[in-house]
Formats: sequence, structure tokens, C-alpha cells
Amino acid sequence: MSAELDAIAQKMVADGKGILAADESSSTIKKRFDAIGVESTEDNRRDYRELLFRSTEAMKEYISGVILFDETIRQKAKDGTPLVQLITDAGSIPGIKVDAGAKPQPFCPGETITEGLDGLGGRLKEYYDLGARFAKWRAVIDIDTAAAVPSYTSIRANAHALARYAALCQEAKIVPIVEPEVLMDGSHDIDTCYRVTEWVLKTVFEELYYQRIRLEGMVLKPNMIVPGKKSPKQASVEEVAEKTVRVLKSCVPSVVPGIAFLSGGQSDEEATAHLDAMVKLGGLPWKLTYSYGRALQAAPQKAWSGKAENVAAAQAAFTHRARMNSLAALGQWTSSEEKKAA
Ligand code: 13P
Repeated sequence: MSAELDAIAQKMVADGKGILAADESSSTIKKRFDAIGVESTEDNRRDYRELLFRSTEAMKEYISGVILFDETIRQKAKDGTPLVQLITDAGSIPGIKVDAGAKPQPFCPGETITEGLDGLGGRLKEYYDLGARFAKWRAVIDIDTAAAVPSYTSIRANAHALARYAALCQEAKIVPIVEPEVLMDGSHDIDTCYRVTEWVLKTVFEELYYQRIRLEGMVLKPNMIVPGKKSPKQASVEEVAEKTVRVLKSCVPSVVPGIAFLSGGQSDEEATAHLDAMVKLGGLPWKLTYSYGRALQAAPQKAWSGKAENVAAAQAAFTHRARMNSLAALGQWTSSEEKKAA
């Protein structure tokens, strides 16, 4: 069983490949569709995701796995082919978001605890039968230093839930993506993001140890070390890269096969530039790659705008973004490649 898990985890972070996070919940995909003037119907969600999964070059060359939402893993393409099959036919791995979302945490004003552990073992069995070979659970940690957020209570509870989830996944032969996201909302500076992320990651790996997780059979999905969006002092690409790599080196054991970042609200190009700069630093014990949602999908969503005649343009925009991130994961991204037309 452990060899199977390790092999999947390694495939998820194969050289020059990364993960497409297409697991927006019903409320999040509605927000994305509202922004491009598209109604969030089951058919529109299917059409949009089908166009991504039918982007042959992107899926074959640059996307190792796709994180799906419950609805999508059960959906069929217009011609009746299961969407999961489009993904596996391209040689990519289907994955599934299994958390039930971040809910207000009792006695922790302004903080959340991610729910979804009850019955998870049974759901994972079903998802395995539907084709999922990895899963995702996202813990959300906000920063508000004036309100003493985050608290020990919330970090500990979220890390414990992540570890319980990871154990259930590995028992079901599913690789857990462990995602503790420190948000970049707010006005905190980059060093505050560093301190909070370090605290969170130390706690997460402690809990993973206590839950007997096989670190070789998991993928970490962290935030990068960046200042809050409203911080008056923004950071250079080099500073983000240096601080992110430093915190990871001090917290993430080297047997973890790979680290696949979330984009968290960074612009497309920032997310690519930051990844590229980290890989260029070299000498890292794990693979670094992308597990982007917005930074891979903003461009194709805009190009598509819900119109069938725009499908080819949307696929070209997605393929371009995926190729840029693939180059970044290899430390080979350049601004001249970036400017080549999508
Ligand atoms: P973003 O890259 O848009 O942050 O999404 C990644 C993700 O899966 C968040 O859970």
C-alpha cells in the first residue's frame, strides 16, 4: 500500500508538472462566473470544466492531477464521456476535495475550523471507486494581529483535523494534499506571514507525526510567504522566494516528495514568477510546483465568458498559463516566454 501511495505522490509532483485546482465549491464557482457574466448552472459548470480537461496539450504536458468538486467527479461531458475519463485519458490523475468547508470556530472570534471528518472514511471509499487517487483538505488561517488572530486553539484544532483527514486518506489508498492556508488578506507585513506560517507548519507536521502519517505518501500545499494585500510594504520576488524557501526548509521534512503551492489571490504572473525564483535558488530536498486555482483559471475564464465560440481561445489561455507554470517549476521561466501570445 505504501509503495502505491508514494508512486502517486511522486507522479503528482513530476518534473515540469503541477496540479490544476478546479474544485471550487458551488458558492465559489458562482462568484467566478458572476465576474464573467455567466449563470452558474450545472451545464455551464460542466461546459467550462470540460473545456479545461479537453485542453490536450496542457493536460498531457503540464497538469499532473486535477482537484475536482463532488459534482464534477460524477459529471459526464456533453458526449457522455465521464469527466474523470477525460482526465485519465490525458494521463493526468483525478483528485477530490473532501472537506466540508471552513466554519466559525466556537470561542475563537474571527477564526474558522474546517469540517468534514464524520463519515469521511466511507466517502473516500466511494471516491476511490469513482477514480480519485488523491484528495484535498484546506484549513484556513487568517491573520489579524490586533485581535490576537490566529490563536493557538485554532491552529491546533485545524492541524489536528488535517492530520485526521490525512490518516483516513492513506488508509483508503488516497494521497492526501495537506493544505494549511495562511491568508494574504489584511495589512500585516511579510515577517508576520513568516512567523504565522512557521507556527502553522510546525504544528501541522507534529500532528501528522502523531497520526502516523507516511510523509512519503503526501503532498503539502502551503501559501507562499507574502505581505498582506493591504500592507503598505510589498515585497520583491526575491524576498518572497528567499523567505518561503527558508520557512519550508525549517519546517518540512525532506522525505516529503513535493510541495505544491496555492496561489491565494496572487496575480497569474506573480504566482509564476515566485515559483520560478524559488526553484532557481536550487538545492532543495523536495520538488516545488503549483496547485493553482485562480492563477491557472483567471485567464481562461475571462477568454471563455460562457460563449461556445470562445472555447478555443479559452483553451489557448489555459495552455499558456499551464506552460508558464511548468517552466517555473523547472526554474526555466523567462519574461520573453511569458510574452509569447497565448
Ligand atoms: P488558489 O490557487 O486560487 O488559491 O486555489 C487553490 C486552492 O485549491 C485553494 O484551496
